Amino acid sequence: MPSLDDATRGRILFGGDYNPEQWPREVWQEDVRLMREAGVNLATVGVFSWAMLEPTPGAREFGWLDEVLDLLHANGVGVALATPTASPPPWMGRRWPETLPRNPDGTVRTYGSRNAYCPSSPVFRSFADAISTDIAARYARHPALSMWHIGNEYCTVCYCDLCARGFRAWLQTRYGRLDDLNEAWGTAFWSQRYSDWEEVIPPRQTQYVINPTQDLDYQRFASDLLLGGFKSERDIVRAASTDIPVTTNFIGFFKLTDSWSWAPHEDFVSLDSYPDPSDPDAARDGAMAQDLTRSLGGGKPWLLMEQTPGRAGFRDVATPKRPGLNRLWSMQALARGADGILHFQWRASRQGAERTHGAMLPHAGPDSRVFREICELGKELTGLSGVLGARVPADVAMVMDWDTWRAVELDHQPHSGFRYIDRVREYYTPLWRANVTVDFAHPEADLRRYKLVVVPNLYQVSDEAAANLAGYVERGGALVMGPFSGVSDPDERIRLGGYPAPFRDLLGLRIEEYWPLPDDQPLELRSELFGDFTATSWGEWLTADGATPLAQIASGPLAGIPAVLSHAYGAGTAWYVATLPAQEHVLARLLDVACAKAGVQPVLPDLPPGVEAVRRGDFVFVLDHNTCSVEIRNG
Ligand code: GAL
Ligand code: ZN
Repeated sequence: MPSLDDATRGRILFGGDYNPEQWPREVWQEDVRLMREAGVNLATVGVFSWAMLEPTPGAREFGWLDEVLDLLHANGVGVALATPTASPPPWMGRRWPETLPRNPDGTVRTYGSRNAYCPSSPVFRSFADAISTDIAARYARHPALSMWHIGNEYCTVCYCDLCARGFRAWLQTRYGRLDDLNEAWGTAFWSQRYSDWEEVIPPRQTQYVINPTQDLDYQRFASDLLLGGFKSERDIVRAASTDIPVTTNFIGFFKLTDSWSWAPHEDFVSLDSYPDPSDPDAARDGAMAQDLTRSLGGGKPWLLMEQTPGRAGFRDVATPKRPGLNRLWSMQALARGADGILHFQWRASRQGAERTHGAMLPHAGPDSRVFREICELGKELTGLSGVLGARVPADVAMVMDWDTWRAVELDHQPHSGFRYIDRVREYYTPLWRANVTVDFAHPEADLRRYKLVVVPNLYQVSDEAAANLAGYVERGGALVMGPFSGVSDPDERIRLGGYPAPFRDLLGLRIEEYWPLPDDQPLELRSELFGDFTATSWGEWLTADGATPLAQIASGPLAGIPAVLSHAYGAGTAWYVATLPAQEHVLARLLDVACAKAGVQPVLPDLPPGVEAVRRGDFVFVLDHNTCSVEIRNG
């Protein structure tokens, strides 16, 4: 199987999306001259070129793309060549309106933007496969070709009749018989029992709350459906070239597509990363998405496929990256396992929806701060090729699960403000600040090589995952679990007898009731370990059954109830946090205690705030996210 090594060939990849079809040919000459000046060695081409390549149904206009690839190759620039299927041409929607996606209320999303397709449409599929086949046949042997870039940021959900049919087939595979679907969905509730497969539909507009398992299964189906489209095009390009790696660009923590199920189907994982430079926690968010990306690929090097060199045009307030920030964030990606740093895009568009988005070559042209910084970065990266292929060691695994994410955010949860990614962030943040490197892991993954496992939330859990986590602790592992975990099974059936049913023994406690709170009625808590603190949004009516309380609620109807506990289980230890501490130091302290017990060390101890340290192979990257200078003493 080809890998990212086949594209890097000893150099850190550097470049960005290149859309020459938006410009006259004279500009192309300037492009390649400036690419050379900047040290660009990879351009992503063709992502949104479908209408240029196939101006009318079945026509082919490859001449311009031949020229572009030849020109890039002549200038030492490799190509990530896209199947251009993320955005079909207008003729498709007009001639075959059934290819347009439908909203839950039946209205149509028309062409004029991008991604206007129903992923179930056989017309769309056959045109997409046909253009992919012809591109693969024409360019598989082109010397510029470095990798295949399938589609772009898969993100389309449709609720049409074709999707309904596909959904039924997906459900038949999952459940077999209609009675089993009725059982899994709990259709005895509200007279929802199905007597014929044809009655089963996507979660469209309804009078009141939709069946939660129907909603959840549609989210799973929508991810699998898009994955099917990806695989179809991947197989096409693989059939034409066995030595060229295949990828598609993930969006990091993106709820629609379950990246654990996607990642094994590509040769390496790619990330599009757009933290907001005006957000003080942007560096943390970048690190978190990068750690996820590395983990999705099983620790192998990955590719930063997109970041903006300046501002992100889609933001309400599109603050640019300050001087040095693009370099800093590029180094962060390298430190966390990237073997290439690419941008969206090479030359700033002057027309179209993204005419205000930043670029390596901004509207101001080469005489600009941004372009000068790009040139410096390109030069600097050539000196860092020693990191290529090196691994990023991590002793901590953070469990991350798309099913739980979807399920915990379904309708009629006890607190509609309980957002899964907030929970992940709350536990990731103190570890990031302490310079403890974290991998992400699927709840059923083999966790044995980790010293500490952190489970910010695992609302929905399979029997296998529950046994996996308990077994990990039993054999001597350390585990920290956040609130509202172990509640339902994969059919979104509540597990009975006291929460969290599959973790009661592991955690040494039993919960009778969840106790969500309005923001203006925080809980007060007392603790010797953490000092007094408060918690918002969430409490739990809990009884310790073997666990040792580390913090107690001191106010309201839950007064006297423990809210943070530790429990010796088998040869290991489990901690449970039954609330959402409002002060960051509480989880920081708890994770510190857990790390100490588990023997987890930071990459470098006692760094000043805002300084990040990451080990990659023999390198230690020390990244200063502050805007004022800090002093670090080595010793
Ligand atoms: C990405 C996308 C690019 C471009 C970029 C800037 O999400 O893949 O095509 O839209 O954002 O907005
Ligand atoms: Zn559809």
